[in-house]
Amino acid sequence: MTVRPIRIFGDPVLNSEATRIDTFDEALRTLVSDMLETMDAAGGVGLAANQIGLTKRIFVYDCNGMRGALINPVWEPIDDYVQIGPEGCLSIPGIQAEVERHENVIARGQDEFGRPVAIRGNGLLARCIQHETDHLDGVLFLRRLEPEVRKEAMAVIRGADWYQAQGELVEEGDRA
Ligand code: NI
Repeated sequence: MTVRPIRIFGDPVLNSEATRIDTFDEALRTLVSDMLETMDAAGGVGLAANQIGLTKRIFVYDCNGMRGALINPVWEPIDDYVQIGPEGCLSIPGIQAEVERHENVIARGQDEFGRPVAIRGNGLLARCIQHETDHLDGVLFLRRLEPEVRKEAMAVIRGADWYQAQGELVEEGDRA
């Protein structure tokens, strides 16, 4: 297993849509191991492939006592309940903001052997499923913030050492 470097805000791969996975081989299972180890090493509760530079539709998660990988995920809300709570991202160091998400969701996809799986989650796991699937669509949680809050977050990001070290960067707020 290998801890892979995590891409951070400003890397175009984080704004790229990931493509479907159709091959369930040893390389995929190694990827799952690496992603779980990378997530653990970073202290995260979820990690999407874009975050290690791969545009493949897979994320790993470890929250609410549930741990694993979901491939080609598609989720839907179970009811109308929403949750509003602090959210952060391993690819946006030091930024946390309140984000509204569905409280109860069911996610369907495949495991690393290609077997169909469904994960029903509430609270943190539901938030994780929504956040990580967004990553696979090239969407960062900044895009889910109220405009004023996003402006504040962008100001903090612009002042961050890790951001300035990257040079010229995209403006997340400019995206549709
Ligand atoms: Ni994230």
